[in-house]
Amino acid sequence: MDTFRLLEGHFPVSVRFDQRLPWLDWRRRSVSLIENENTQAIQAWDTNAGFWDERMGEGNAFFDVLLWPAVEKLLKPEPGERLLDVACGNGVASRRMANAKASVTAFDGSPAMIALASARSGPSTIDYRVLDATDYEALIGLGASAFDGALCNMALMDMADIDPLMNAMAVVLKPGGRFVFSVLHPCFNNPATIQMGELEDRNGTLVTTYSVKIARYQTPFTQVGLAMHGQPVPHPYFHRPLGMLLAPALAAGLRVDGLEERAFPPENVGSATPLSWNGRFSEIPAAFLARLRRAT
Ligand SMILES: C[S@@+](CC[C@H](N)C(=O)[O-])C[C@H]1O[C@@H](n2cnc3c(N)ncnc32)[C@H](O)[C@@H]1O
Repeated sequence: MDTFRLLEGHFPVSVRFDQRLPWLDWRRRSVSLIENENTQAIQAWDTNAGFWDERMGEGNAFFDVLLWPAVEKLLKPEPGERLLDVACGNGVASRRMANAKASVTAFDGSPAMIALASARSGPSTIDYRVLDATDYEALIGLGASAFDGALCNMALMDMADIDPLMNAMAVVLKPGGRFVFSVLHPCFNNPATIQMGELEDRNGTLVTTYSVKIARYQTPFTQVGLAMHGQPVPHPYFHRPLGMLLAPALAAGLRVDGLEERAFPPENVGSATPLSWNGRFSEIPAAFLARLRRAT
């Protein structure tokens, strides 16, 4: 059966999300359900690859303003380092890291994304590959203690399973090596977030307040959505509350030694729709980043 129909059935619109759903423990999804979700996720990204590549190019506002300054701060790519770009998409971050004179291995589960990444001009020090981040054996095949650092930019919430990746990081990173990831902030920018603008006449002055409404956070769930307005097909998001996002990393022996929460600066108000993430929501972080480190 189609995964999303299956999951839709589990979350009828009338469900009260503040209740626990004892009949569906998302964390204990069967291996076959996770595999099915993973296949559908990668297929959706493969279908959207051309659109994504065109829109992302060498960086959009979300990437350039919201993410990259924090990624650079946490990752600090150094000349001569070997870095890994996990779920690299069209390779926008891989090229930034290679421009910092690092040697980069970049992979994605979508063959179309990798074809588009390879077709873009950029430093020759990038090795693009098709690889599934949920495949532990393939990941450790990249080499034990092979990388000084790794990045997974905006992709963990797109992955059906993150345990294999976290476990693999404890193997492929050199002792002391760092793994930086960014995700849509699970508390404020999860697939069920409702973005709001409210206009009021406050004693003769018109005031608009931008806010978010959160009805679902604590219980993980899968739900299809849009990463970019107008993308050809929606793709699945895998919402994990913060504790669940970090638990597999901690269990793998990685330690958190850096955190960033990123909101758009107030002056950044250009966006696809009036209520898209932008500087009007400058008090609400749309992205969460962490740096994890393999023990020395
Ligand atoms: C939002 S895009 C981010 C791409 C890129 N990191 C960036 O910063 O632009 C998410 C990417 O995750 C990839 N992805 C999803 N599941 C994956 C998996 N199991 N293995 C590898 N890549 C996966 C998708 O193909 C897609 O390219």
